[in-house]
Amino acid sequence: MSLSGAALERNKTQAATCPSARPKLLLEWYDRHRRRLPWRAAAGETADPYRVWLSEIMLQQTTVKAVGPYFEKFVARWPDVVALGRASQDDVLRMWAGLGYYSRARNLHACAVAVAREHGGMFPDSEEGLRALPGIGPYTAAAIAAIAFDRRTMPVDGNIERVVSRLYAVEEELPQAKPLIQQLAATLLADSRAGDERSRAGDSAQALMDLGSSICTPKKPACSLCPLNEDCVARAQGTQETFPRKAPKKSGTLRRGAAFVVVRGDELLVRSRPEKGLLGGMTEVPGSDWLASQDDKAARGQAPGIKGLTRWQRKLGVVTHVFTHFPLELVVYTAEVDGRTRAPRGMRWVPIATLADEALPNVMRKVIAHGLGL
Ligand code: ADE
Repeated sequence: MSLSGAALERNKTQAATCPSARPKLLLEWYDRHRRRLPWRAAAGETADPYRVWLSEIMLQQTTVKAVGPYFEKFVARWPDVVALGRASQDDVLRMWAGLGYYSRARNLHACAVAVAREHGGMFPDSEEGLRALPGIGPYTAAAIAAIAFDRRTMPVDGNIERVVSRLYAVEEELPQAKPLIQQLAATLLADSRAGDERSRAGDSAQALMDLGSSICTPKKPACSLCPLNEDCVARAQGTQETFPRKAPKKSGTLRRGAAFVVVRGDELLVRSRPEKGLLGGMTEVPGSDWLASQDDKAARGQAPGIKGLTRWQRKLGVVTHVFTHFPLELVVYTAEVDGRTRAPRGMRWVPIATLADEALPNVMRKVIAHGLGL
């Protein structure tokens, strides 16, 4: 139910003196302005735990905009958790390619298998039960428990951290401030009531997420449109853009290496990365180690041994990519080989036209585009 502007104004005035009115203001704002997102149930409908779980895993470290098409592809192909559990890990990785942080895809598959086999295809409905599953940490467990099962808990993501740290002008720096922000965020949950009334915890959380993404933005927040503006301590001080306080970020040391783009007619030479570790199991072109101390000559020396191939062309420029823990700079070498050339051991030729079906991480998409001059 939406409120008239006058009623909303009246509630706001009360909120400035009565913190217990905040959860209600927030939910009223959500009922009017919630984003329509493919995984969200319509107002008043019960959310599907499979869709909630899938979206929450995809949304870890990835934007809503980037997730949308992947989410649609996944649910079209695997409409429920049992179907996803029956898929091969390779198919799941291929479908995930481009979303990044690939351990999420491996855990996603392992989780679907566990829910299908150990829980009869039903997700556990408590935070504790959810946390016991692969790929589900404290934040994701709270998000699923609140959104899919109406458990009275508040998952705190980056958007919520920003909203709450401004509302209360939290001076402590992140990440140390996390427990305090968690505690303050929980005060924005509506009261749980007796009887069969829903706690709407999931809506409270999603209201804060939406507020953070559309109004309480990192730069130039639209405070005049915020349902909590009269209560916001940072706004009263005029310091809203300075929150949340953060310790300066340590970026990892630059690593360097070489990548080798070898073309045979309309095919490209590729290999699979080891199952364990960074980009585990994903497809790549052959390359050198990625080291902070790497020099160009040593990297070039790790080119794949291909009979009759001695001439490598060095492409101008470098490909750069930023992983969570380090930035990477790759020099790209290219070569064309004869139509009968065999792939070295552990490598294979794939048609360039079907590269989209490979589990290619973004860094490799950049390398191949650079190498092929696309
Ligand atoms: N980010 C993480 N979970 C989300 C959700 N359920 N809605 C919008 N953004 C989100």
